[in-house]
Amino acid sequence: EFRENTVIVVLGASGDLAKKKTFPALFGLYRQGFLPNGVHIVGYARTKMDETEFHKRVVSHISNSADDQDLTSKVEEFKALSTYVAGDYEDDKAFQLLNTRLEEIESKYGSKERNRLFYMALPPSVFLPVAKGLKKNCYTTEGVVRVIVEKPFGKDTDSCRELVKGLKEQFSEEETFRIDHYLGKEMVKNMLVSRFANVALSTGFDKNSISNVQITFKEPFGTEGRGGYFDEFGIIRDVCQNHLIQVLSILTMERPVSFSAEDIRDEKVKVLRSIPPVERADTLLGQYVSANGKPGYLEDDTVPKNSKCPTFAALTLWVNTPRWEGVPFILKAGKALNEAKVEVRIQYKDVTQGIFKDIARNELVMRIQPSEAIYLKFNAKTPGLYSRAIPVEMDLTYKRRFADSKIPEAYEALILDALHGDKSNFVRDDELEAAWKIFTPILHWIEGKSGQAPRPVPYPYGSRGPKELEAFITKYGYKRANAE
Ligand code: BG6
Repeated sequence: EFRENTVIVVLGASGDLAKKKTFPALFGLYRQGFLPNGVHIVGYARTKMDETEFHKRVVSHISNSADDQDLTSKVEEFKALSTYVAGDYEDDKAFQLLNTRLEEIESKYGSKERNRLFYMALPPSVFLPVAKGLKKNCYTTEGVVRVIVEKPFGKDTDSCRELVKGLKEQFSEEETFRIDHYLGKEMVKNMLVSRFANVALSTGFDKNSISNVQITFKEPFGTEGRGGYFDEFGIIRDVCQNHLIQVLSILTMERPVSFSAEDIRDEKVKVLRSIPPVERADTLLGQYVSANGKPGYLEDDTVPKNSKCPTFAALTLWVNTPRWEGVPFILKAGKALNEAKVEVRIQYKDVTQGIFKDIARNELVMRIQPSEAIYLKFNAKTPGLYSRAIPVEMDLTYKRRFADSKIPEAYEALILDALHGDKSNFVRDDELEAAWKIFTPILHWIEGKSGQAPRPVPYPYGSRGPKELEAFITKYGYKRANAE
């Protein structure tokens, strides 16, 4: 269902997220013709500025994302449909003003129907007051109201529950769209298709054939300037509890009854609830130190000098379903590493018998970014009269195979879903709670709430991670192929 007469309100319009993701995605959708007819965009934030200044900023955020020739006219059109209202986040009068502006815009619509999509690109401290303010002053019953909320959704199971409950007092589950932008990434969306549309890939996708799975998130930069936020959250809350666990749930869930949002999320919740809380013994925590001319985490001015906050974590999870019991799922995530990469690496067991005892294991790799790809490492005979078996690849690299396709930005895909009311790629309340339960005990331990807080091991900025990592993954059965 596609709603015309929609106003999209971006709350937190002068913030970082809006600048880097929301406006470029809205513009991307607009220029590709995906926004509904008659759409309007209203930015709302505390910063006082007039419309000219707002447009100037919007244009500077979107100009990088545009490369076609009719860009100038598209930018002009986009400016014409966007406007700005300045106001506080805890002030009814300000929200009434916003509402008046919305009504002015809507009065030009031909029909009475009016739909409002509120995008909360806000710091967590104002989620609740803003939700209250919107419900009280900017709600309409003349159409559909939807609210997109951004993480962090709490800091542990209890605070998540509280936040979910508080938001529900204002907006129903039906109206609430919790974003985890990894669910909008092309390769993550492809996982369901790859898993359930292929006998060749789904056969042997279980504990009988698979030895271990790694889900890896690597970034080549530190917290630079974001240390204040980061130190309160740490790498586990920043990417593991949300992005990586979402990928894990899609990878391990059973086949949904249908591809409807509720059927998919029912299966995800089920598998998440089968994962017991991470054990201390199954963790390796790291913190980067200065190297290669780059500052260490503790040298960031916004970080407390004695912080034990992990900027790297390797955590092994166990999925207690008949399909997966006994298979270690190793989540690895770190800042200030040697490269930017997010991938899933499924390593199969050894060939059991006979002549190929020491041969490399098969691996199925799904690279989420950069450069989406799926490749299967398998062994083949080298061509020629004298030959042997060597590891080779069956390789689906999107850039080659789908050279003419534009891969959408995650935020484009998700905002479009929200406009359509499709919730498949948004996080349901029970899913969120199940995910928090897996990490809450370990997070409390790391914060010293249950005994002495552990000290993360150091690793140099720009390295592959702590030197202990290799032994850690080996412990769970990962075998590196012998170097050729
Ligand atoms: C965000 C985290 O949710 O995801 C950031 O807060 C991280 O720390 C980002 O850099 C990664 O997203 P992407 O799309 O760049 O992989």
